[in-house]
Amino acid sequence: MKAIIYTTNTGSTAQYAKMLAEKTGLQAFSMEEAKSKVEAGSEIIYLGWIMAAQVKGCKAAAKKYKIRAICAVGMEKTGTRTEEIRGKTCVPAEIPLFTLQGNFNVKKLHGLYRIMMNMMVKMVTKQLGAKAERTHRENEMLEIMLHGGENVREENLKSILDYYKSIQ
Ligand SMILES: Cc1cc2nc3c(=O)[nH]c(=O)nc-3n(C[C@H](O)[C@H](O)[C@H](O)COP(=O)(O)O)c2cc1C
Repeated sequence: MKAIIYTTNTGSTAQYAKMLAEKTGLQAFSMEEAKSKVEAGSEIIYLGWIMAAQVKGCKAAAKKYKIRAICAVGMEKTGTRTEEIRGKTCVPAEIPLFTLQGNFNVKKLHGLYRIMMNMMVKMVTKQLGAKAERTHRENEMLEIMLHGGENVREENLKSILDYYKSIQ
């Protein structure tokens, strides 16, 4: 494995990429940095933030590098929605994909992303708020939508680290 390459918007994915770099001894680069630092065709672990159930930057990274594993960073719990994100991002079955819970804060968003997310927050809080009974997961989502969440944790990297060790 040559490197870790990531795409971040508000920083959570960069945090995970740096933690993973410390744990594996690999170097972590943003997609921009990687242009001059990581040779095309190199084997990489790719980390990208999730937008509308798709991993940002994944297709561009797949064109240039040989992706051996993907970490998708979103607002939902680590290890959930994996197959939905695999399908929407068209990740082949042979590439392991791990979802990681990141941070969420509407105030950190700009431009179109902020507009899109404000609409989403309004819609979801209206739908969930109107429910007489909510599941634990729905309550967690409502809390994050209303008040944001800081959920980058080292322990969320366990599955990707186990996989990395298994291929060494
Ligand atoms: C426009 C927009 C759409 C999003 N869609 C999703 C989504 O479909 N699923 C999800 O889990 N998180 C979604 N998120 C939340 C981000 O993936 C989450 O906040 C993540 O931690 C951002 O990573 P970053 O800090 O590296 O940018 C969305 C965020 C934005 C701004």
